[in-house]
Amino acid sequence: MNIREITKDVLYVGVNDRNTDRFEGLWPLPFGVSYNSYIIKGAEKTALIDTVEIGTVRDYIHFVNSETDNKAPDYLVVNHMEPDHSGGIPVVLANYPAIKIVGNRQTISMVKGFYHVDDSRFIEVKDGDVLDLGGKTLKFYMTPMVHWPETMMTYVVEDGILFSGDAFGTFGALNGGVTDTEMETGWYWDEMYRYYTNIVGKYGKFVQKALEKTAGLEIKYICSTHGPVWHDEIGKVVAIYDRLSRYESEPGVTIIYGSMYGNTAEVAEEIGRQLAARGVKNIKIHNASKSNLSYMIADAFRYEGLIVGSPTYSMHIFPPVEQFMIAMETREIKNKVLATFGSFTWASAASGKLKEYAEKMKLEVVDSLDMKQSADETVYEAASRLAENVAAALKCK
Ligand SMILES: Cc1cc2nc3c(=O)[nH]c(=O)nc-3n(C[C@H](O)[C@H](O)[C@H](O)COP(=O)(O)O)c2cc1C
Ligand SMILES: [Fe+2]
Ligand SMILES: [Fe+2]
Repeated sequence: MNIREITKDVLYVGVNDRNTDRFEGLWPLPFGVSYNSYIIKGAEKTALIDTVEIGTVRDYIHFVNSETDNKAPDYLVVNHMEPDHSGGIPVVLANYPAIKIVGNRQTISMVKGFYHVDDSRFIEVKDGDVLDLGGKTLKFYMTPMVHWPETMMTYVVEDGILFSGDAFGTFGALNGGVTDTEMETGWYWDEMYRYYTNIVGKYGKFVQKALEKTAGLEIKYICSTHGPVWHDEIGKVVAIYDRLSRYESEPGVTIIYGSMYGNTAEVAEEIGRQLAARGVKNIKIHNASKSNLSYMIADAFRYEGLIVGSPTYSMHIFPPVEQFMIAMETREIKNKVLATFGSFTWASAASGKLKEYAEKMKLEVVDSLDMKQSADETVYEAASRLAENVAAALKCK
């Protein structure tokens, strides 16, 4: 039994990273992450698909050597150049002096820029090109901006296997099982929302283009660069990526607030209570000073309602709340029922600046309130009205 086999001629040679605290220096990895790489064995040639992050390359080279009986692979297909997948390229080139890198024009330019590799080591491919390994035909689909400009997907025609790069990936290391058939997948779904919204979220329209491009393919396995190999759950995984990349929401409301002394927090709690009393069941309240941005982004993408509150801080939005709004603007968040609330003591600024973000994002603000110093009956009434207006505007019920 070969423990690395996905199908007879396609092997998993990826690695787990349970050491890195934050992906891209930003996004927490409580359950780790995997960097997936694969070997495809044709009758004549052998290809590697992507490499791994440099810190995990030792195990990776060991896997590749053992799976190829120490015969060097012929090709390294580079679907994506972000260093979590391209970090191993210099080591692969040094270990296998005859190996050729297969990539598009932009891939080649990036390999040269990152790793100073000379022209003799590349084979350039374009959209729709094929590479024959002997009974295994690799077909290349250019899928730019999923999630860098050079990204492409590789399809094994005979086996119906799609190597999709970061698309359909998720945070969460592999715990023994590699394919979804071999494991309980339950806990990966929340991590997939976080992975998509944190990493790929800005590129929804390009994900849609990639989905259209690959829609006609018969796909038996999706081998992405992070997380399980999808087989049984392909329908669910594609549906999640499709929904999120269309900015489609689920029933529920996310409340994000900042507070130094509790006054803005009091309004946030009141709005939450008022929403629940109106039958809204999924309510996620985040104190932006404590909740990690990663989780706030995931909830904001996921649920239809978004309510953001901030005290005025030296004539600005309170910094952790502003960071959240920048994350929303960067990801071009759409289709939200948005409301805002602010607080101040002598000169209000946060409330107006939150609305400026909404304008830039072309989101209508269904209601807003601004509180001077602390909550009184008027503020409580305004909070109740705001909850009423948000609840009434929600379409996902
Ligand atoms: C460092 C700092 C800067 C502030 N800057 C302003 C300001 O520019 N304008 C204003 O009206 N209030 C300002 N405030 C007051 C707060 O916005 C106001 O008291 C608010 O209600 C605090 O809400 P909280 O209790 O939720 O922290 C500032 C407070 C602090 C601590
Ligand atoms: Fe990436
Ligand atoms: Fe990645």
